[in-house]
Amino acid sequence: GGNIMQTIVLSIDGKEVTAEKGKTVLEAALEAGIYIPHLCRHPDLAPLGACRLCLVEIEGPPAPVASCTTPAEDKMVVKTRTPRLDRLRRLAVELILASHPPDCTACPKYLKCELQSLAQYLGVTDQRLRRRQKPFPVNTGNPLFVHDFTRCILCGRCVRACSELRGVGVL
Ligand code: FES
Repeated sequence: GGNIMQTIVLSIDGKEVTAEKGKTVLEAALEAGIYIPHLCRHPDLAPLGACRLCLVEIEGPPAPVASCTTPAEDKMVVKTRTPRLDRLRRLAVELILASHPPDCTACPKYLKCELQSLAQYLGVTDQRLRRRQKPFPVNTGNPLFVHDFTRCILCGRCVRACSELRGVGVL
């Protein structure tokens, strides 16, 4: 079986990027040193396209697409930074934060949190948010994890890790 790597060339933010065929637009960008915000994507898990932070504009389709679920194609022209994408990403983070506990400093993940970093990166501040906290009890009965649904952002990583990596599928 040949393991000859097929490569494609696309343009991302005006930069010529060579990528392995089969990679997603997000992977091609990250491997070329171009950062696209992303949250639900995890390198060990199948893409889900849930958080909408990795949106990019591609020449052709009128609406932005999720770069984590879009395969990179030869001659594709991709933009990762436009005012429209900025707006959509900030909106996505605001929607997540609207139902999230406001006190980051009381969270065990404080300063190690991708959501917090992304909110700062995208310039999302508290003032605009109308919060509506979910009334779920916190379950600390398991020694391996704290089950706190008030902090769930529906990225689906735990569910995918459970079924794809552990092969258990209990979540
Ligand atoms: Fe692509 Fe979440 S990283 S939709």
